[in-house]
Amino acid sequence: MSAKKLLILPGDGIGQEVMVQVRRIIDWMGKKRGVAFDVSEGLIGGSAYDVHGTPLADETLADAMAADAVLLGAVGGPKWDDLPFEKKPERGLLKIRKEMGLFANLRPAVVFDALVEASTLKPEVVKGLDIMIVRELTGGLYFGQPRGIETLPDGQRKGVNTLTYTTSEIQRIGRAAFDLARKRRKKLTSVDKANVLECTVLWREEMIKLHKEEYSDVELEHLYVDNAAMQLVRNPRQFDVMVTENMFGDILSDCAAMLTGSLGMLPSASLGAADATGARKALYEPVHGSAPDIAGKDMANPLACILSFSMCLRYSFDMTAEADMIDNAVKTVLAGGLRTGDIMAAGKAKVSTTVMGEAIVRELDKMG
Ligand code: IPM
Ligand code: MG
Repeated sequence: MSAKKLLILPGDGIGQEVMVQVRRIIDWMGKKRGVAFDVSEGLIGGSAYDVHGTPLADETLADAMAADAVLLGAVGGPKWDDLPFEKKPERGLLKIRKEMGLFANLRPAVVFDALVEASTLKPEVVKGLDIMIVRELTGGLYFGQPRGIETLPDGQRKGVNTLTYTTSEIQRIGRAAFDLARKRRKKLTSVDKANVLECTVLWREEMIKLHKEEYSDVELEHLYVDNAAMQLVRNPRQFDVMVTENMFGDILSDCAAMLTGSLGMLPSASLGAADATGARKALYEPVHGSAPDIAGKDMANPLACILSFSMCLRYSFDMTAEADMIDNAVKTVLAGGLRTGDIMAAGKAKVSTTVMGEAIVRELDKMG
């Protein structure tokens, strides 16, 4: 088996320390399962700016394009807040998503039984929750032209962003979402604002067309984004897969993440189109940010990043058995009562990032 090329971009803040725990698991896979990864590391975000004067150097982007998969930690922090817009850490992240063509962002929100109490919602509302948000990631309001801030003749300033989607952009994200729903509980909720925004009228029309022509075996429903936000906290288990515009997805996925009790638990996958061999460009990252307030203190929850690696094994390398092992190790460790600060509860044992990572490896050891 040829070594799988993995590029690791820890980024800023807690991205660094949670990635250390993922490295342990990668090493474990090599030693105990004979799965050799060809791992290299690079810079992104503020840490890249500090070295290269840009949040994503061309060489790093080239490495990402050449990798079989990219694992990313998090970007951003107060140190870089005053940089010009184009140099900000977040631009590095947006650029790598765009340049790699990662249009499909999969954000699962799963409530682990052991963490049912960590949610701010009642256990009977979130127990067993398992939804998948499919966020369009390279178009919509984040990338539409024209954009910018201009000065008007009367001296006022005007800020502009544009919401645009073409039919092919809608169709490819629609297919990605329908395909996922087909493998799950066969229900897709398309989220738009078709009562106000023409762009999303087109979105809805294209979803209906796809459904009719290719996916009539999947149930399709449409919700306006405000209602979707409300339904997510009212009765989240009504959903299976949700598909939506870039910025709507940004907002709804944070909301869905919180249903699970902690942003520290949520992984994500960002996938490009399949090439002639069926391979896709892919980047995996935790949904949480760089959390500068706790960075460097060995307090962060490494599980979202570890679960992102599990998604990487599942979606990029077809290593279902190993991905299941990691997911089960996480479940067992949580059931055993270990908690990082973000998911701490009465009667549980509060542990550091490092101890949590070690516990996962110990569980993997038991499984072989
Ligand atoms: C996310 C983040 C990013 C986004 C930021 C950091 C640019 O919030 O991945 O959800 O808005 O996409
Ligand atoms: Mg976000």
